[in-house]
Amino acid sequence: MTAILPPTDAGLAEACRILAAGGLVAFPTETVYGLGADATRAEAAAKIYAAKGRPSFNPLIAHVADLDAARREGAFDPVALRLAEAFWPGPLTLVVPVAPGGTVAELARAGLTSVGLRVPSDPVARRLLAAFGRPVAAPSANRSGHVSPTSAAHVLADLGGVIDAVIDGGPTPVGLESTIAAVDAGRITLLRPGAITRAQLGMVAGQTVADADAGDAQAPRAPGRLSAHYAPATPVRLNATEVRAGEALLAFGPKLPPGADRAREILNLSPSGNLTEAASALYGGLRALDACGAAAIAVMPLPAEGLGEAIADRLTRAAAGAPLT
Ligand code: TXA
Ligand code: MG
Repeated sequence: MTAILPPTDAGLAEACRILAAGGLVAFPTETVYGLGADATRAEAAAKIYAAKGRPSFNPLIAHVADLDAARREGAFDPVALRLAEAFWPGPLTLVVPVAPGGTVAELARAGLTSVGLRVPSDPVARRLLAAFGRPVAAPSANRSGHVSPTSAAHVLADLGGVIDAVIDGGPTPVGLESTIAAVDAGRITLLRPGAITRAQLGMVAGQTVADADAGDAQAPRAPGRLSAHYAPATPVRLNATEVRAGEALLAFGPKLPPGADRAREILNLSPSGNLTEAASALYGGLRALDACGAAAIAVMPLPAEGLGEAIADRLTRAAAGAPLT
């Protein structure tokens, strides 16, 4: 049985009780729902991997209440500090070297000497982290390879009966996972694009931000960036300029492509062409179209600038992963 907890003091107290007992509690953040466990205990982190059905141990992000707590876990050089001060609380994960005396379990870090840290801005997440008082390891609260959940109902669809509880804080506003930036010796590497854009990171740090995919063998990797990581079961066809027989349409903007009238179903991420609105609607839209029995999901082209980089990243992965159900 998975308890559905309200985001009240009583609900959060129950969530803390479960976490302290080594259990699993899904909770809202401003990006997507996370599947939380006490990050300081290996056996609690192990339950996350089992519940998600992750094929291999993949480092987990440790969520903390504030920068002070983060600095007890990770070593922040001046560049990392500047990014944290500019963007926390918020949808940015910083991968930094583990601090001496850091408490995040080695299993939660997948044995790495770095740790992914994040101070979320969602008020329910912040209250939970402050009340629990220890880092909470949390990947997205979906079965491995599925689309990340942006509502408590999505969490229950994937993990109902498998986890102890979910705190229902309503839909998540950003809708895409956090930006992940590794900072080592003052150099920033973008491991995963997100709502904090490459340009914003570069501006604050006064440097150009390299991409981990650009081939630097020394760059830290985000192992979760596998091609099949965000996949619906239905094949996804990108940059569709027409709708083919049997397809559903994931639309963007006011003007629909030829053939839209015969689409199995149409979901418009943002009729006005707004990328923020599109990001928050993306995963719910993919889930809805995945369930309508279409032969494929045709996705209209979206602009690639700013937040569009993160949306394109997730859509490319959805398309690449589609044959693997
Ligand atoms: O928005 C988010 O980031 C959500 C919410 C719940 O915070 N979490 C999330 O977690 O998306 P997850 O596990 O689905 O993705 C975390 C990514 C993985 O690709 C993992 O490989 C990478 O972060 N990561 C974590 N720690 C790392 C480290 N020390 N070095 C490199 N990559 C790391
Ligand atoms: Mg995930």
